[in-house]
Amino acid sequence: MLKHICQFLLGDAALVTATLEPQSIDTVVTSPPYYRQRDYAADDQIGNESTPRAYVDRLVEVFRALRPAIKSTGSLWIVLGDKYVDGQLLGMPWRVALAMQDDGWLLRADCIWHKPNAMPSSIANRPTVDHEYLFLVAKTADYYYNADAIREPHVTFSERSRMKGGRRHFGLRGGTPEQGKNSGRSNLHDARWDQAFHPLGRNKRTVWSIPLSKFRGAHFAVFPEKLVETCLLATCPPGGTVLDPFAGAGTTALVAERLGRHSISVDCNAEYLEMAKRRVLAARSEHSIMNASAQQAASLQKSGQR
Ligand SMILES: C[S@@+](CC[C@H](N)C(=O)[O-])C[C@H]1O[C@@H](n2cnc3c(N)ncnc32)[C@H](O)[C@@H]1O
Repeated sequence: MLKHICQFLLGDAALVTATLEPQSIDTVVTSPPYYRQRDYAADDQIGNESTPRAYVDRLVEVFRALRPAIKSTGSLWIVLGDKYVDGQLLGMPWRVALAMQDDGWLLRADCIWHKPNAMPSSIANRPTVDHEYLFLVAKTADYYYNADAIREPHVTFSERSRMKGGRRHFGLRGGTPEQGKNSGRSNLHDARWDQAFHPLGRNKRTVWSIPLSKFRGAHFAVFPEKLVETCLLATCPPGGTVLDPFAGAGTTALVAERLGRHSISVDCNAEYLEMAKRRVLAARSEHSIMNASAQQAASLQKSGQR
């Protein structure tokens, strides 16, 4: 496996990211500290502000500080959960998203991260929360987005149903757009069929069902690798660079390493940053060992063939 550059920078997200090289980052994948959720044991930590407004302002300041480092084709994925205070839902993710929009960012998508293995709760007077939000925010309208890299399987049309004629209104049972009741209809020729049912799958939808991470090394919520992978494949070209200004246990860097992207991880807590470094290095050496044994097996096989 190729070694990719991964940097680990200790300090406050706004201060550190403001020093990054201008136009050097392709994408940001991050889950900021949630409002009044945890104590990250650092003086400059975000999340314990006295009002929702102060929290939103601090997050917007961080994204404003890192904006010059983002390429004009760059984008941000921001994962945020909501919060009940005094029995009332704050709508915090949307407060942040709208404040980002007011600050000049282009809000491109709100996705729901559905957690099929979310903790049960004893709440009886409202539904149990099993989702968070994921906002895709771009710097300009000309942002990089590889839709093909994250397509998902067609639901109503499998290869089998397509061969058999698919939904009835496209033709009689056993027919295709080219045969049967609708054959010869100009709006059902091959090209249109492929356009409607892309061979790589349908365009990614906005509800992503991904189980919570199994990594238990940190005492805070680590986001799942699958979630980061989807974001990276869509908005970070191969060989590009991803930034996580709230790196925690370094899941973004870990996935970047595996997918051949460079990464920059920032966190204000030295212990977490060390944990992130260890995690990425362990994955690296695991892959090196796997590659070395694969190479050894291949050369043994070759020498046996001689
Ligand atoms: C929700 S955790 C991130 C978890 C991460 N996505 C993962 O998978 O491990 C938020 C992180 O933000 C860090 N943090 C809080 N305030 C910060 C600040 N002002 N600057 C940089 N990092 C900060 C915390 O130390 C914590 O590690």
